[in-house]
Amino acid sequence: MNILDIAQNSVKAGADKIEIILNEMPEKLTISIVDNGCGMSEEFLRNVQDPFCTTRTTRKVGMGIPLFKLAAEQTQGELTIVSKTIEDSPEDHGTTISALFFKNHIDFTVLGDIVSTVVTLIQGSPDIRWIFSHTIDENEVCLDTEELKAVLGDVPLDNFEVICWIKSYLEEQYNEIGYDQIS
Ligand SMILES: Nc1ncnc2c1ncn2[C@@H]1O[C@H](COP(=O)(O)OP(=O)(O)OP(=O)(O)O)[C@@H](O)[C@H]1O
Ligand SMILES: [Mg+2]
Repeated sequence: MNILDIAQNSVKAGADKIEIILNEMPEKLTISIVDNGCGMSEEFLRNVQDPFCTTRTTRKVGMGIPLFKLAAEQTQGELTIVSKTIEDSPEDHGTTISALFFKNHIDFTVLGDIVSTVVTLIQGSPDIRWIFSHTIDENEVCLDTEELKAVLGDVPLDNFEVICWIKSYLEEQYNEIGYDQIS
């Protein structure tokens, strides 16, 4: 749910390329969402991590980032955000949100159905280039919709058969490395 929400923020920020990078080791997991959207100013960034920081009343209270931060911090991990606004860096703007989780912590909640998350995102925004990479120790599960598009030609990414194919493509990769992605 967290990944879905954070990636939706990137969609709303007008990104046309969004990377979801998971790096998993025996004891820790990092989740990074990298976009080339409009970015956030330093002042905005300071406020955005705390929903109850009401120094500015113009902003509606969002919960996506605070909840992601809370989930990470509950495991003794942390959330970091690096962002460049389109105004300050017209050539190289966007946001990177990274969360570190300690998997053995009692408050670590499992990843959940990551394949469905990725499929839902692609289906909802088929025109965005989605890059997914999940490294588990020395193995990697990955998908780049740009490579798919090259093969598909005029067939859209949200075509039902294409979506089913993407789902099984990812599931096969997880099966091959013996990763039980639900638990
Ligand atoms: N990747 C991003 N790029 C640019 N702005 C962002 C990005 N992520 C978040 N923001 C800004 O930060 C605000 C807060 O995000 P957050 O996810 O916490 O709440 P929200 O999206 O406003 O509401 P909610 O997620 O609860 O529906 C967003 O409204 C948006 O203005
Ligand atoms: Mg949000």
